Amino acid sequence: MTLVPSIRPRRLRRTPALRRLVAETRVHPAELILPVFVREGLSEPQPISAMPGVQQHSLDSVRAVAEAAASAGVGGIMLFGVPAERDARGSAADDPAGILNLATRAVVEEAGDALVVQTDLCLDEFTSHGHCGVLDASGEVDNDATLERYTAMAIAQAEAGSALLGLSGMMDGQVAAVREALDLAGHEQTALLAYSAKYASAFYGPFREAVDSQLTGNRKGYQQDPANRREGLREAELDIAEGADIVMVKPAMTSLDVLADVAAVSPVPVWAYQVSGEAAMIEAAAANGWIDREAAIAESLTCIKRAGADAILSYFAIEAAGWQR
Ligand code: PBG
Repeated sequence: MTLVPSIRPRRLRRTPALRRLVAETRVHPAELILPVFVREGLSEPQPISAMPGVQQHSLDSVRAVAEAAASAGVGGIMLFGVPAERDARGSAADDPAGILNLATRAVVEEAGDALVVQTDLCLDEFTSHGHCGVLDASGEVDNDATLERYTAMAIAQAEAGSALLGLSGMMDGQVAAVREALDLAGHEQTALLAYSAKYASAFYGPFREAVDSQLTGNRKGYQQDPANRREGLREAELDIAEGADIVMVKPAMTSLDVLADVAAVSPVPVWAYQVSGEAAMIEAAAANGWIDREAAIAESLTCIKRAGADAILSYFAIEAAGWQR
């Protein structure tokens, strides 16, 4: 009598207590990493119009954010620098007195025992043309010349106390080059987070305002084509072979298939980045009353984790950590 089913999946959905008990996925505060922008020359934090609730911090206010993240139980903080002066080679990036390296020292001093202090290792915030590397005579991003700049940045960041360098530039061979340079300089304990499958994405839009990006054009000559799934796995495998300690997939919600592919085979942790445009979509829809903001944030983080992320970079990290407790 098929009108009376004996198999009823709804039994386990009946009460909040049952649902909690059978939930397969939980997002723990320690698995969240907060991206933070620090801008040179600020005395007060500045709002970022495309990222409600996110600010450009000063060297002072970044300490307070690090404290807040630590007391929320957040696992780490990813620092991005916004320099006052830019040039073609991104000189401020490897200057020990450059904003990112100063911010790293400040945050390590403030909360380095409670949080894993991480730094973005890429030139785009520091170059006058806004590209992630240096340009050759024809205006193309010069892969191998950029590797030299990355190795100098890596040493400066390791010396400033960064525990985990986030290689987000998508240059070929960047993980191997940086690993070798760090080891030769005595920084063999500094770990590498490779943004392995990083797609050229429209969802980085608000980030460009956050770092005051000088970019005209796009990054399609080095970041991956969102049309390509197999290539994401290939990039992750290359980075692992080159010595990546952790690999990352980004953006998160448009790459859940790639995230699942990488998580299925990776021998190292796999992270995902819920990028600025993903956060902006939630904020904008919520501001219009079209979605429930907190439910949408919680669902997005849960589903990114369900797809295979061991940890997630999210602008909602502190807030979401509070709910998970
Ligand atoms: C490169 C970098 C970018 C982001 C993180 N690292 C920008 C880009 O590739 O254009 C984007 C993150 C976000 O959108 O939240 N330094």
